[in-house]
Amino acid sequence: MHKDFEEDAADAAARVLDTNWTGRYTVPATGLYPHQWSWDSAFVAIGNRHRAPGRARAELVTLLDAQWSDGRVPQIVYDVGRDDDYAPGAEFWRSATSGLVQPPVHAWTAWLVHCADPAGSVREGFLARVYPLLARWHDYLHGPRAGAVGLPVTKHPWETGTDNSPLWDAALERVPPEARTAIRRPDLRHAGTGERPGSRDYRRYYHLAEAYRDAGCADDVPIGFAMVCPLFTSVLAVSELALARMAAALSDGGGAAHEAAAARVITTIDEHLWDDELGLYVALDDTTGERVRSATVNGLVPLLLADGLRKGRAERLLEALTGPGFLGGGPYLPSTARDDPAFDPALYWRGPAWFNTSWLLVRAVRALGHVDVAARLLEHFDIAAPDFPEYVDPSTGAGRGTRQFSWTAALTLDALLSDESDVLPEQ
Ligand code: SER
Repeated sequence: MHKDFEEDAADAAARVLDTNWTGRYTVPATGLYPHQWSWDSAFVAIGNRHRAPGRARAELVTLLDAQWSDGRVPQIVYDVGRDDDYAPGAEFWRSATSGLVQPPVHAWTAWLVHCADPAGSVREGFLARVYPLLARWHDYLHGPRAGAVGLPVTKHPWETGTDNSPLWDAALERVPPEARTAIRRPDLRHAGTGERPGSRDYRRYYHLAEAYRDAGCADDVPIGFAMVCPLFTSVLAVSELALARMAAALSDGGGAAHEAAAARVITTIDEHLWDDELGLYVALDDTTGERVRSATVNGLVPLLLADGLRKGRAERLLEALTGPGFLGGGPYLPSTARDDPAFDPALYWRGPAWFNTSWLLVRAVRALGHVDVAARLLEHFDIAAPDFPEYVDPSTGAGRGTRQFSWTAALTLDALLSDESDVLPEQ
């Protein structure tokens, strides 16, 4: 990137993060997503650690303040004064937070935030504060959320972060497209209908959310959807390794247990989620025991765990990543493979390129020394400024979804300001 362009892009990204900062956390976007979202806050902190590390720490502390007594970290912490601007809101959940969760990127993020400013982190007692909370979060996932093979299940497509990925289609087919709640779609004021999940999807999303809420968000009550996701479980493994680093930094003896947990998660992903024909990882339906044969970016994310995967699998993943379904078929990394029957270049997680998944794969390939592939993935961040779209058409780069989206801005900053070549830096 040209130097002036880089400075302009960094300034513009910082402005988005300043506009979307509320004083305690950052909204993902002022219109479409006016509350605090769990994994959005983590990605925001990854960008802010370079320019406002205190704010990055506050972002995570605010989220963890909303942790439930059972250890879950909620998907959304509502700004209850804005309950009309987003649905379902606090009134639906009868709680100040959603009862669902999102991918557990938080411990990994907390470690990156700590390493960016160790002195400030120590001064604030950041690790000492967040480590036990993050450990409880993982205990919740390994405990009440453990499915048949021992990996945590997601109980709703919203928990996967990749709502309408084809990975969830077969399981959702079994969910009646009927909801008791009157469904409002304020999201459609902020993004085109062809870029958001449809009304039939939403009736199913609400059906599941109602069932989970009415069961008191208890995890021993089957509600008809329980999926093991390769993205969710891979970031959990990285986050376990981050907890091990934190334990060492705090001279806490728990590190070995976190390393063992990471190793177990990685081995189980490898044993149960690999699809040899597609050459990548897929989802596992915990209700039927079936694997879902769909090629999505979720299935490439285990490349972050390359060291622990069976021999030859990292090479196969790299082949898939650079092959015609993904980077070999066009400039930006699609959420669903270009040759998957469900591919749609505009529709949310069924094809568009998302900046967080490009970022995850940049980290993975850099750690493996594939600077050429990293450079290809980083081209995505060249087209982020000045609009910072939520996602883009993977062939044309045209912006989709909402604009001035916080994690797009934050991860653009990270792409400009960090060339870390480890998945987890040393302190
Ligand atoms: N992705 C969801 C939405 O679109 C929230 O997590 O509202």
